[in-house]
Amino acid sequence: MTAPFTVAIDGPAAAGKGTISKAVAAHFGLAHLDTGLLYRAVGVRMLLGEDPTKAAQTLVAQDLESPDLRSADVAQAASKVAVIPDVRAALLDFQRAFARRAGGAVLDGRDIGTVICPQAEAKLFVTASPEVRAQRRLAELRDRGFETEFDTVLADVKARDDRDTNRADAPLRPADDAVTIDTSSLDIDAAVAAAIAVVAARRAL
Ligand code: DC
Repeated sequence: MTAPFTVAIDGPAAAGKGTISKAVAAHFGLAHLDTGLLYRAVGVRMLLGEDPTKAAQTLVAQDLESPDLRSADVAQAASKVAVIPDVRAALLDFQRAFARRAGGAVLDGRDIGTVICPQAEAKLFVTASPEVRAQRRLAELRDRGFETEFDTVLADVKARDDRDTNRADAPLRPADDAVTIDTSSLDIDAAVAAAIAVVAARRAL
């Protein structure tokens, strides 16, 4: 069996983690898990009136298919349930097992390199200025048919940054051994190329 090879990709909302993670996984033939979806799925169930911890403990694959997962309301709800230590604990084993699966995996989130898989062979911290991230998120939301304004999206991005960075349990921060990629002035191709170069160097070790 091949030794596990984990790529941990952390960073704030809308920095380009999702695009970079998918491209890195495809390039190296690794499985990919967007861990934000787990918190979003718990957020959806909380908005439907469920206790978030119960929801996290009983999450099923079908929860990850909800059409609402990408909405702005669900993003905020995800960031709120993510503050609850019991919610994080309930999602831990699944993420750890995925990270160490045979054949290797890319996980993107907020705490992959620091808490979920500190032994990850490659760690990236993907970031960009709040304004650039809000502009990207605005375009993405409009593409998906959600009508909204730049100032609203910027306020949402900043509120989420604040909650994700300042929570006591597994706050968003770069692991000490993570390589930071600031995508503020990079296009997608350049950002993906930078990430692939970092991972390729780690794979060659
Ligand atoms: O990556 P995303 O925007 O889909 O994440 C939604 C929220 O979920 C984010 O604001 C914080 C939380 N989250 C987390 O706390 N830890 C992770 N590993 C992934 C997401």
